[in-house]
Amino acid sequence: MRVIVVKDQDALGKASADLVESVMKTKAHFALGLATGTTPIPLYKELIRRNKEEELDFSTTITFNLDEYVGLEPTHDQSYRYFMNAQLFDHININKKCTHVPNGIAQDIEVECLAYEEMMEDVGGVDLQVLGIGSNGHIGFNEPGTSLASRTHMTDLTESTIKDNSRLFDKIDDVPTKAVTMGIGTVLDAENVVLLANGANKAAAVKAAIEGPVSALCPASSLQLHPSTTFVVTEDCASELTVLTEKM
Ligand code: PGA
Repeated sequence: MRVIVVKDQDALGKASADLVESVMKTKAHFALGLATGTTPIPLYKELIRRNKEEELDFSTTITFNLDEYVGLEPTHDQSYRYFMNAQLFDHININKKCTHVPNGIAQDIEVECLAYEEMMEDVGGVDLQVLGIGSNGHIGFNEPGTSLASRTHMTDLTESTIKDNSRLFDKIDDVPTKAVTMGIGTVLDAENVVLLANGANKAAAVKAAIEGPVSALCPASSLQLHPSTTFVVTEDCASELTVLTEKM
């Protein structure tokens, strides 16, 4: 596991864009796993800049988002489909038909979950998965206690995640209580993983993920078993780590 410690959010965006670009350049049809949340926004800004100014080409890229709230229309401004269009897809030369976000309003969510796994398999798997981390150690919406072998599934959000995410809604009661998420096993199947973390409120989760025991109680700790994972974390977020590999 590689840990890159960066000064600030701009540096986080650049370092993670470098990782994405280096894998992208080796693939004719790049399958990119994406995450929502505040943390990856600097990465998306930098990818947009490289697309516009350096001709980084997304025309053959296929994307798979980690998760989506159950019950929100894709046009809802807090849905993850809406977020991805606004933060990335609307600004780069990607074919929107090749961008996938789980359908949180599917009639049959179980069928949707199986179909999502099949789509990833059909393109030969995800080449690089971008992740954030919850203050409780979750990845995607795999909350503490989720099986390390889990596949795409519907899940209940914990109180702490509902509270964390309520900052983006008018009131806490508006936050959906269920989501569809890739499982931990699904994430671990990606060839490369890049986890981004920013802010002192994530320091304990990052410490548990990198230096704690591998445990379903900290879903991100499962990445210790993954052969090609890089954590890109800001200095304040790395404050509890005892083993650092790189500083930028
Ligand atoms: P955040 O969310 O980037 O908005 O902090 C990360 C997550 O919950 O996975």
